[in-house]
Amino acid sequence: MTPADYIAREDKYGAHNYHPLPVVLEKGEGIYVWDVEGKKYFDFLSAYSAVNQGHCHPRIINALTEQAKELTLTSRAFYSSVLGEFEEYMTKYFGFDKVLPMNTGAEADETALKLCRRWGYDVKGIPENEAKIIVCAENFHGRTITIISMSTDPDSYKGFGPFTPGFVTVPYNDLDALAKELEDPNVAGFLVEPIQGEAGVYVPDAGYLKKASEMCKEKNVLFIADEVQTGIARTGKLLACDHEDVKPDILILGKAISGGVFPVSAVLANDDVMLVIKPGEHGSTYGGNPLGCKVAMAALDVIKDENLADNSERLGKIFREEMLSIDSDMIELVRGKGLLNAVAIKPKNGKTAWDVCVAMKENGLIAKPTHEHIIRFAPPLVINEEQLREAIAIIKKTIAQFA
Ligand SMILES: Cc1ncc(COP(=O)(O)O)c(C=O)c1O
Repeated sequence: MTPADYIAREDKYGAHNYHPLPVVLEKGEGIYVWDVEGKKYFDFLSAYSAVNQGHCHPRIINALTEQAKELTLTSRAFYSSVLGEFEEYMTKYFGFDKVLPMNTGAEADETALKLCRRWGYDVKGIPENEAKIIVCAENFHGRTITIISMSTDPDSYKGFGPFTPGFVTVPYNDLDALAKELEDPNVAGFLVEPIQGEAGVYVPDAGYLKKASEMCKEKNVLFIADEVQTGIARTGKLLACDHEDVKPDILILGKAISGGVFPVSAVLANDDVMLVIKPGEHGSTYGGNPLGCKVAMAALDVIKDENLADNSERLGKIFREEMLSIDSDMIELVRGKGLLNAVAIKPKNGKTAWDVCVAMKENGLIAKPTHEHIIRFAPPLVINEEQLREAIAIIKKTIAQFA
């Protein structure tokens, strides 16, 4: 089969809910992936920051295969020998009393919203069905009906109504707007991405998260951080909130907690919040399965043992410096933290960020535009300086082709 055959088959039998770059991958190792014709690429998307530990990391794959031989799924109808180990590991790793495991990022966000509302009624005393949660414009938290009800992006919500009520939107990075909405006594929580990834890697002003979390505390409102994309060393610290020493009341994790090997997500909180949900009130058949638990523990071990946060911090600085040094009128803006970065591309002679991504693919590096004119660059965090400089040379060469 040729690459065109693979693409035509997906097109014919699969829903058209994505618009992939025309490259058909069949193998991955570390920072590299190979297509069906054996061509090698730098992966600068890392499956939207799920593969922070690199493709098919041997320690994570070993955890998967060893556990797969023993027990894969019990459901939560029974205890398992692995779940408690995972729960102890996660709560100690991230510093919370309790964890609630789910599978996808969207499910973890949904879990956090339910926890927040229930806390609002049972602890804060908000009248039944009146709880509000403040969210940010341009947010991305996933694709469920409730989550798109919080979205300001028509691609996400248009044509999918009616929507879930109970959300109030404020502009991102705007403390005054937040302060105003926090005056409402029926507000139970403020949900925020420490950096808005899907929106195009919007980094808020220094101090925004810290001040927002303090304002929430003052008003008895839960500060909820969605670190599904920013978490797990991506931005140069274990969590992006760590840059400002912010401890969320509810922490939402997904993607890289299992290194791209098996879907695992998690919500962490202390007892005063987590214990408002009682048996039978929330769950998921696969959530907390032994296979995912073992994979996640191995993936999180790798983050610490290989110092991936420090590597991300150091190499991220080099990456941004090098991107800023490119002399091209196509490069409008460079921003990011650690190895979560974006370059805004100004279209030239009808050529857009998409064309740049296709040309980079031809030159051996894959990345994907988000919101048409922004290219996100997020390699696996196991990349070293020499490899990064090689990748930067490909990006520079590609941009030069558009001169
Ligand atoms: C911040 C954030 N939250 C939630 C999600 C949804 O995660 P999933 O695709 O695993 O449902 C994403 C996915 O990109 C995300 O970036």
